[in-house]
Amino acid sequence: MESPTEQKTEWTIKSLLEWTAEYFGRSGVEQPRLCAEILLAYVLDCQRIELYVKFDHCPGAEQLSEFRRLVKRCAEHEPVGYLVGKAHFFSLEFEVSPAVLIPRPETETLVAQAIDFCRHQTMRPRVEVLDLCCGSGCVAAAIAANVVEVEVVAVDNSPQALQIAEKNVQKHELTGRVTLLESDLFEKVAQSGKGIFDLIVSNPPYISTEEYEKLSPMVRDYEPSGALLAGADGLEVIRRIIEQAEPWLADDGALMIEIAYNQSEQVIALFEKAGYLGEVRAIKDGLNHDRVVQAIKA
Ligand SMILES: C[S@@+](CC[C@H](N)C(=O)[O-])C[C@H]1O[C@@H](n2cnc3c(N)ncnc32)[C@H](O)[C@@H]1O
Repeated sequence: MESPTEQKTEWTIKSLLEWTAEYFGRSGVEQPRLCAEILLAYVLDCQRIELYVKFDHCPGAEQLSEFRRLVKRCAEHEPVGYLVGKAHFFSLEFEVSPAVLIPRPETETLVAQAIDFCRHQTMRPRVEVLDLCCGSGCVAAAIAANVVEVEVVAVDNSPQALQIAEKNVQKHELTGRVTLLESDLFEKVAQSGKGIFDLIVSNPPYISTEEYEKLSPMVRDYEPSGALLAGADGLEVIRRIIEQAEPWLADDGALMIEIAYNQSEQVIALFEKAGYLGEVRAIKDGLNHDRVVQAIKA
């Protein structure tokens, strides 16, 4: 088949998707059909599902040429989320840019645990949440969007990431319920005016220097290293969070941290060593990997 990178008059949505999915497959792009659909829906300014009801439609020359440019970049492993400037997380759409990590499905485990905890705080009129390392704001916004009693302070040390988080807070009409702050972990949290939190959540950087080198080019070459790297053993940020969280946590407050699939033993040991946390639990993600470590302040 003639490639869509060349002139052709009769490209339909159906043939474009088939050709592109096959090309992405050969180029080693993960989820090739899904990526083809996301890019084509973006170019045609429609929902993915709509592609299926207009399979025989022929996109115009300008749309084809934009699609062609995006297909080339995607085949070179530029993440689809950055190409279209958005990603879906916990059934919500978030703006993303290369300043933030693209929200991952595994982080939905952390959000589900956080929402469950917040919904059980019926004795409190308001549930105060601190989201450390907020990035795009996806965790803070997903929690606040699902539990009306929640107020979140969300911090990140990257001003560029916070600009994206601000857009997402506005997009989901959470201004006033999600407060964004530039801070190295807890350093400037007091500026939020909140002294103590019922829940501290974090999806921090947790990749070791050695693992970082082995990451797929799609992640290593495009996503911000500051969102991924956490020292020689990958635990630098997690260790600091556990060491510093105690004075910020209410009695019976919870600490929940996302971890890499192989870190639960070490992180559970850090929680236990901290001395202020009760029974420590590891929660599994959809792939049956330990993904969140959590405990209540004892
Ligand atoms: C793994 S990303 C998570 C982003 C977002 N919470 C999510 O789940 O998609 C980690 C984020 O932590 C931020 N970060 C790294 N070190 C930090 C620190 N010491 N203090 C605050 N934020 C930090 C990075 O800028 C990045 O946005």
